[in-house]
Amino acid sequence: MSSRREFLKAASAGALATLTAHSILSSAAAHAAGQAAVSLPGKDGLIVRSYRFLDIEMPVEFMTDWITPVHHFFVRNHMLEPVQLDPKQWKLAIGGEVERPLSLTLADLSKVPVRTVTNTLECAGNGRSLQNPKVPGIQWGKGAVGNAQFSGPSLKSLLEKAGMKDRGKHVVFRGLDVVPGKVPPFIRSIPIEKAMDGDTLIAMHMNGAALTPHHGFPARVITPGWAGAASCKWLAEITVQDKPGDGNFMIPGYRMPNQPVKPGETVKPEDTHSVTALTVKSVIASPSDGAKLKPGAQVIQGVAWAGEADITRVDISTDGGSSWSPAQLGKDQAKYAWRLWRYAWKPAKSGDYTILSRATDSQGRVQPDAAIWNPSGYFHNACDQVKIYVRA
Ligand code: MTE
Repeated sequence: MSSRREFLKAASAGALATLTAHSILSSAAAHAAGQAAVSLPGKDGLIVRSYRFLDIEMPVEFMTDWITPVHHFFVRNHMLEPVQLDPKQWKLAIGGEVERPLSLTLADLSKVPVRTVTNTLECAGNGRSLQNPKVPGIQWGKGAVGNAQFSGPSLKSLLEKAGMKDRGKHVVFRGLDVVPGKVPPFIRSIPIEKAMDGDTLIAMHMNGAALTPHHGFPARVITPGWAGAASCKWLAEITVQDKPGDGNFMIPGYRMPNQPVKPGETVKPEDTHSVTALTVKSVIASPSDGAKLKPGAQVIQGVAWAGEADITRVDISTDGGSSWSPAQLGKDQAKYAWRLWRYAWKPAKSGDYTILSRATDSQGRVQPDAAIWNPSGYFHNACDQVKIYVRA
């Protein structure tokens, strides 16, 4: 863990990186079309989904580490990142239904006991491009997900300092995003039960270093096991209230239909609920889709995660889903974190093969053959699939 001085040093370097990133991005924006590799300091080799507000994803081929390095970690921004955030001026306000409203500096936060949670952070819209029929929104492939170690005080410890009133049932977060024009501010809330779970953090560090600007410097919420939208970056304000937050990102944003709907059908907001915990899912990192392989021993490998549940098995099919065999799960594991898995395979002969992976979790959920269609394209979790060509 870096010291306070290192943290502040990283802060100013980070602010510079953001400025640089913005100038690179604005010049590149004119040329951006479809899938492009990022020429963004510290984010080499990622796939750009949007330059206007930075949205970049990790190619599946990078999903071979238990802990995703920050330079490979996806970024999801709904608006512009704050560019001139001075850590010495930064304060976190805690108010609403509390006995003692607080205004905390970084120095105040660093006196609160630190907790570390290894969390697979996934955007609810990950895999949206695989939905059929297509829906509007960032057309994420499979890589709006990563697994990192986040550290900071628990939200619970801060709420206890402020003293919760009985009326407080929801906790609303506001970040310091720069809100351009008519874009509504990014405000989301979580219910009090999740807020008071000791694993929900106000994280200041990611993988042992100060958060970078793209990931919410100087402090962000980490609501482990839940869709990434519950993990507000550049946190400035926490408000406890008797009802959920409102605004575009609560309704109609980030909601799922209460009942399955037919593809293409629209759903009334009152027939939906806010997204919460992630579902069960696996991704094949290697071999890549379309790979041409020589006959002989192969290793099929990837990751699997299940939000607040644990992965209990991953099964692999090398014959398009006719037969399945268990993969070996990696030794690294933690609540909310993905598991690596691998499967040794020797194709009997040259040919075209469809390889599938299917995860099962401790809640008995199994990755389905086809994802449940919904109008926003959330939680796409069909069994993953790659086609490979074995040629002598
Ligand atoms: N927080 C703020 N303030 N603004 C945002 O646009 N995006 C959310 C969340 N927190 C967002 C935010 C979404 S939708 C996701 S998936 C995660 O941040 C992504 O976190 P990352 O960019 O660190 O990977």
